Amino acid sequence: MKIAVLGGTGIVGSGVVKDLLSEWSSGVSQVLIIGRNFKKLENLKQTLRDEKVSIEVADATDKLTLVRILRGIEACVNAAQYNVNLNVMEACLEAETPYLDLGGMYYTTLEQKKLHGRFVERGVPAILGMGSAPGSTNILAKYAADQLDSVEKVNIYDAIKVIGPESQVFVPPYSIRTLLEEYSAESVQFIDGELRKVPPCSGKEIVDFPPPFGKIECYYTLHSEIATLPYSLKAKGVKEVTWKLGQPDYIKKVAASLVAVGFGVVKKVRLNNMVIEPLDFLEALIQQNIEEHQKIKSVTSEEQSYEIIRVFVAGRKNNKETNYTIDLIKEPLKEYEGINDPMTSMPASIGAQMLARREIPPGVWAPEECIDTNKFFEEMIKRRFKIICSISTMF
Ligand SMILES: NC(=O)c1ccc[n+]([C@@H]2O[C@H](COP(=O)([O-])OP(=O)(O)OC[C@H]3O[C@@H](n4cnc5c(N)ncnc54)[C@H](OP(=O)(O)O)[C@@H]3O)[C@@H](O)[C@H]2O)c1
Repeated sequence: MKIAVLGGTGIVGSGVVKDLLSEWSSGVSQVLIIGRNFKKLENLKQTLRDEKVSIEVADATDKLTLVRILRGIEACVNAAQYNVNLNVMEACLEAETPYLDLGGMYYTTLEQKKLHGRFVERGVPAILGMGSAPGSTNILAKYAADQLDSVEKVNIYDAIKVIGPESQVFVPPYSIRTLLEEYSAESVQFIDGELRKVPPCSGKEIVDFPPPFGKIECYYTLHSEIATLPYSLKAKGVKEVTWKLGQPDYIKKVAASLVAVGFGVVKKVRLNNMVIEPLDFLEALIQQNIEEHQKIKSVTSEEQSYEIIRVFVAGRKNNKETNYTIDLIKEPLKEYEGINDPMTSMPASIGAQMLARREIPPGVWAPEECIDTNKFFEEMIKRRFKIICSISTMF
């Protein structure tokens, strides 16, 4: 299997590359890492020291170059920032290369779904939002819905708990652009059978997770699950699909402060006759700050990061009220050392391998529409994730 990872030097992309090269993945013969920055690509290649790895410099907005590079590749993971998703999909369509991405922050996902007919016609499969959330969240919701005769509501949560001394240097858990958009944009939730816009970080709820997570405050943010699940589960009668995020206090504080300063608004700034893109500047500053501190000592090595995804699905089975609560847990295991964000990068790697094995039919699919839930769970358990399912029935 020849698999390309666009944005492969990024937080999630580099995790996908490492999973593809790991013993958890079999049959991967080539991993092509594509990015804009030759130095970053070369550094990653040197660190990996694996003959399966090759690199190509390309910008995701340069469709012609992408088409040339992607021809003959059996799956392309697009791990670049989601605003290039449509362009990369067009390139994959032309190169006839199966496509996968990490989500489209609701609105881009809606646009991407409109390409379904063209992907079917050309015989090319595409999976949208195949990370942790969206991704595993959609698949857990589908699994629970499949067990029920009808579904009333789906409530999704994602929370991170950091144990041990927190890093003194701010290391974003994922793309700073996405993080700040989550803290500044109105989100869309499906409530009482309709799509509703709600303020960023509203709907605060204290959720009681199993140890070591405990009680964590979760709140609405903009996410892609709401762009697909209300439609995928329509036949089951679903009337509510919501998404809430719960992050450690230091991330909340930094994100809220940056939004308050103005970084949440993507507008250019004129400074001394120069035009500056604030988020380009911020991204470069954060990266430089991390690198400067890494020269002194590792910035994150003492932290132990746990992550939990909870999907609560309420419905009816055999005329009885029945609820499913499914927790997917990532612990800070030794096996994940050196792999960024395994909770997100591993589902993407699993999905890319399903695409390359032609297990996904042509078309543009949300994960809940195309992934075999049992095969997915097997792959996640192999990678040492915990999946805990509890069922309650009212007699
Ligand atoms: N579904 C989920 O669970 C989940 C979780 C986390 C993140 N995400 C999404 O995943 C995406 C990537 O996140 P991340 O945290 O990995 O971000 P990141 O660390 O900023 O990585 C983005 C990568 O894309 C590259 N890139 C950006 N623009 C590009 C372009 N025009 N052409 C080629 N390469 C380009 C960057 O390289 P250079 O800038 O060096 O060129 C970088 O390597 C984001 O859209 C984020 O929202 C999804």
